[in-house]
Amino acid sequence: MTHLELRRKFLEFWKQAPRNHVEIPGSSLVPQNDPSVLFTTAGMHPLVPYLLGQPHPEGKRLVDVQKCLRTDDINEVGDAIHHTFFEMLGNWSLGDYFKEDAIKWSYEFLIKVLRLDPKRLYVACFAGDADASRDDFSAKVWESLGIPKDRIKFLGKKDNWWGPAGETGPCGPDTEMHYVLANGELSEIWNNVFMEYNKTADGKFEKLAQQNVDTGMGLERTLAVVNGLDDDYLTELWQPAIKKIGELSGKKYEENLKPFRIIADHVRAAVFAAADGVTPSNKQQGYTLRRLIRRSVVQAKQLGFDPVRLSEIAITFIKIMVPVYPELSSHQQEILAAIAEEIQRFQKTLDKGLGLVGKIDPFDLYQTYGFPIEITEEIYKEKKLAFGKKSFEEKLRSHQELSRTAAAGMFAGGLADHSEQVTKYHTATHLLQAALRQVLGDHVRQEGSNLTAERLRFDFSHPAKLTADEIAKVEKLVNDWIDKDLPQKKETMTYQEAISSRAMAFFKERYPEKVTVYSFGNVSREICGGPHVEHTKVLGRFKIIKEEAVAAGIRRLYAQLS
Ligand code: ALA
Repeated sequence: MTHLELRRKFLEFWKQAPRNHVEIPGSSLVPQNDPSVLFTTAGMHPLVPYLLGQPHPEGKRLVDVQKCLRTDDINEVGDAIHHTFFEMLGNWSLGDYFKEDAIKWSYEFLIKVLRLDPKRLYVACFAGDADASRDDFSAKVWESLGIPKDRIKFLGKKDNWWGPAGETGPCGPDTEMHYVLANGELSEIWNNVFMEYNKTADGKFEKLAQQNVDTGMGLERTLAVVNGLDDDYLTELWQPAIKKIGELSGKKYEENLKPFRIIADHVRAAVFAAADGVTPSNKQQGYTLRRLIRRSVVQAKQLGFDPVRLSEIAITFIKIMVPVYPELSSHQQEILAAIAEEIQRFQKTLDKGLGLVGKIDPFDLYQTYGFPIEITEEIYKEKKLAFGKKSFEEKLRSHQELSRTAAAGMFAGGLADHSEQVTKYHTATHLLQAALRQVLGDHVRQEGSNLTAERLRFDFSHPAKLTADEIAKVEKLVNDWIDKDLPQKKETMTYQEAISSRAMAFFKERYPEKVTVYSFGNVSREICGGPHVEHTKVLGRFKIIKEEAVAAGIRRLYAQLS
């Protein structure tokens, strides 16, 4: 089965009666209205407002194919089934059908349409905990379809609960479908999430007003299993690239699985990120793209071919995917240029860095010359030089803490740079959040923010448009606090201590064990990477210039200092 057929079969199946889904176009890899995440990581991502209750213009049953990019398991790329960029086939019920229909139809698609072997299907259901009960209902539906009890597992939140995609939002217990590959290993091919909960900023799970279904089937993995393959890279989606890497390196795929797969995966992800307008840089999406390209460059060097030729691999992906994504052809020049320029840029520092191997601290190769970590170690080993793993790891840890704090600052604070003006806006954002909570109530929580030298932008949870009176009150509070010249206090403590001391926190999982807490007088106390002004008076005058809605229950403010 070709990838085009698989897509068509999936979309047709869900569009047919009695399922009657409407096909919607997939979204960009770069979320358009969500500053809290860098990339679209699941098909549900662009549908969050509708899962929360806003009516979707196309109705309650939707189906699509969504481009996704996930970097959380970039280290697993190199095996047969993990990818950074992948496509997700998804169907949704927005408060319409629920568990029984979802599972029966999923089964029908796998067994009747794709003709997979029911004896090789294993499923997992949610085991239940304090937040939600054990999903015996789903297990019963699976049993009614003929899946024996010993192929139905119950697992906890870590495995059988999905979402929210960010820190808050729709989520719920899920049931996963795993298929036994020819080599005996299991590949998770499909996930049905029963999204009837909303995770709130204080970590609670509230029932949503509607029961939704959110599913995600991995296109790459499914294409492999329907073709009887136990390695995604053996499918037509990857084979032209794998063959090209073989040609360029003169080496065999079977003997070099990991580097072949990493190069193919990363180049493909780079092609799609660049096609959606990302250019390599030191921040946000651009940094992810940079790392993907640099990691491929190093792997290419190690396989023994000129990294400049990675663009030929990029072209193989453009060719196979262009029938689905015509923008690959219209943007081909920009895509190839973005990749080629980054390869050149890195090769300069790569060669310079290579000349410094043994002469400077290996950590500086990583930090200053942009050498991927694993590669730095490898080079040292090859040259039989002392790498100093322990010292490297210590430095890396403190560096990662810094950048994680910066990343938390980026997600929670949207910090673009550390210039004086941005520092002021960063502090103003803390005061603004404190003022909003005083005026509107404690339900106000930061949902995202973005700072430039000219203005701050702040997204927060609140159900209604702000009145002129509320805006005036918020402005007055912030300005009063500025006039009081509140002193900044900076403390370092463990995350737990920070929470116990009533510091506001966001995006919990992303914080390192030790965090910095910034307070201003006794009006604001937040876990934050900083930097902040020493005294609030330097902020001058604070003015809200615009108020608007971003999504259901989320408002956005723009404000300026003068
Ligand atoms: N949103 C679910 C997932 O990504 C379907 O697995």
